[in-house]
Amino acid sequence: MSQRSAIPSTLADALWRIYRRPDPAPLWERGGNLPWNDPAFSARMLREHLDESHGAASRVAAERAAQLEWLWARLGLSPGSRVLDLTCGPGLYAVPLAGRGCHVTGVDFGPAAIAHARRLAAEAGVAERCVFIEADVRDYQPPAGAFDAALFLYGQLAVFPRAEAAALLRKVAGALRPGGRLCVELLDPARVDKADSSWWFTDDKGLWGDRPFLHLGERRWDEAERTSVERYLILHLESGHLDEIILCDQTYAVEEMTELMRASGFATVAAYPAWDGVALYDAEEWVVYLAEC
Ligand SMILES: C[S@@+](CC[C@H](N)C(=O)[O-])C[C@H]1O[C@@H](n2cnc3c(N)ncnc32)[C@H](O)[C@@H]1O
Repeated sequence: MSQRSAIPSTLADALWRIYRRPDPAPLWERGGNLPWNDPAFSARMLREHLDESHGAASRVAAERAAQLEWLWARLGLSPGSRVLDLTCGPGLYAVPLAGRGCHVTGVDFGPAAIAHARRLAAEAGVAERCVFIEADVRDYQPPAGAFDAALFLYGQLAVFPRAEAAALLRKVAGALRPGGRLCVELLDPARVDKADSSWWFTDDKGLWGDRPFLHLGERRWDEAERTSVERYLILHLESGHLDEIILCDQTYAVEEMTELMRASGFATVAAYPAWDGVALYDAEEWVVYLAEC
């Protein structure tokens, strides 16, 4: 690890900014999400998506295979089905679905993730059945009634405030044909850690930077909004630059999400706790919704 003999003034300024941080961490500040669309962060995050030693960014291959079997049956997919994968990441679900004959449109605003998805599709020889769009899902305008099924996996509908999530659900309902189905995976509110906590660690290289950094994290639960709020302060030791990230996770009771989906244009909604028994390391933490237009 490299070391500095004197503390740069930027580092001292950053320490004061940490000391003076707003407390409690404000909800939804700077979007309330990880900087997925920052090119450098996206490139570092891609390493995590592809790291088979953990399932933090994308689940590991064996678990994805089990999920894909479930999705294939429950979404009623068959070769030729048109599937919309919202927040598709590096295409680890979209490309296998295209491999089974589906026509898949993946939308994600992570540049490295989308580039990887396109590469993967080309390598698998299914590029002609895949369209990967680099865009914020809130801006993407799907053609009306163009899809048989849609995916919104790994909790990503929860990183938006309620009103934005409702608008997204209405948009997906409009993009599906009558009888089309949506699968949404959301954290089970009963399993969300509601205790305040904080942590720190240092590293030379990882998700938060490629040079020595100090990561300071804190988590709180906002009871009024039923939202988990995490704040990450990343102090880059050589430059003194400070990254401040706030990640909000909106939780939904099953009754609330069911009602929201119905109000958004879905005729029937079924909720499956614990991933309906699919063998995932963290299955107990999730509720999977199947909504049909
Ligand atoms: C936890 S990863 C899951 C990716 C993929 N579904 C998987 O399981 O492999 C979350 C993904 O959501 C994307 N994402 C988050 N917010 C987004 C937004 N507003 N618009 C588009 N993509 C978004 C990120 O870029 C990231 O690729």
